[in-house]
Amino acid sequence: MTDRALGRQQAHAALDFFEDQHPPAGDFLRDALDGFAATPKRVPPVYFYDAKGSGLFDQITDLEEYYVTRTELSILDSIMPELAERAGPGAVVVEPGSGSSVKIRKLLDGLDNPAGYLGLDISKTHLINAVADLAESYADVSVGAVCADFTGGLNIDHLPLPEGRRVIFFPGSTVGNFEPDAARNLLKGFRNGMRSGDAVLIGADRVKDEARLVAAYDDAEGVTAQFNLNLINRINRELDGTIDAGALKHLAIWNSEKSRIEMHLEAKRDMRFAISGEHFEMKKGERIHTENSHKFTLASFSTLAESAGFTVTKTWSDAENLFTLFWLEPCWEA
Ligand SMILES: C[S@@+](CC[C@H](N)C(=O)[O-])C[C@H]1O[C@@H](n2cnc3c(N)ncnc32)[C@H](O)[C@@H]1O
Repeated sequence: MTDRALGRQQAHAALDFFEDQHPPAGDFLRDALDGFAATPKRVPPVYFYDAKGSGLFDQITDLEEYYVTRTELSILDSIMPELAERAGPGAVVVEPGSGSSVKIRKLLDGLDNPAGYLGLDISKTHLINAVADLAESYADVSVGAVCADFTGGLNIDHLPLPEGRRVIFFPGSTVGNFEPDAARNLLKGFRNGMRSGDAVLIGADRVKDEARLVAAYDDAEGVTAQFNLNLINRINRELDGTIDAGALKHLAIWNSEKSRIEMHLEAKRDMRFAISGEHFEMKKGERIHTENSHKFTLASFSTLAESAGFTVTKTWSDAENLFTLFWLEPCWEA
């Protein structure tokens, strides 16, 4: 057995359970072809997160300009006793889009005897390794992982999760990557599987000074540019693409009307290329739209949560109001 396969097997063994729901990987080709045929061109952001993209995202979270992660972590630190009280003893934390499972350590350290943790992510290798590390650190907690697409709702009721109040933890303002209707559907999907007493702890990035927002998505070291261009490298590698990534420039733009940062890749010259044998052209200056990060006010996020069937029962922000954590409970009369 290779070292890599052995490592994977050991990581699996550390978990109480692992389920692969086989999120439809085959759609990458369809989505890329449709996206490049559209005007303007686009690629859905879910494809950022192969193993390389997940690693680059981790590097982004450490950047000076990227205030999001450290601000959210500092809020978590300051509110932990209150969170422990709200969640109560023996809670089961479910984390859709768990990524590197870093923030969850704050919760597992600070909650009152948490009974379980379920990491759910579309990026399988990264998920298994990250959740296996957690399982080793928290021997008293039942730790499992599921490779799934969270946009289809959380299909987790058949999994061997411990009994206990479930807290769905959705940090990082990942909700902001969705257009308003899709964000509402995503939250409704979370809401559907919830039982009385369950709650959502969700992080949302706030509207703020434009220069600060743009810098967070266009850092001086160019890590976010690499993250953006990784999409093109993936298309070339996995979909038999011939796109010259060096001819594309990373752009981060604040769209005030839609209250979001947009990431694009702009052609530095006229380009011709193929994806799986289909031919495309880009004119100099033409863009591929790759990501949206919506930014919220307290009011706009509350309206979104309420439209998905939740009541906002508590909010916590940092002193500069850069970021807010919301505690949502299902609104049963909705
Ligand atoms: C922005 S990262 C956030 C990671 C971590 N929760 C944090 O706050 O630092 C988003 C994570 O969601 C995962 N993800 C994105 N779209 C997904 C989807 N549709 N279904 C499941 N996971 C998804 C990615 O693989 C990535 O690990």
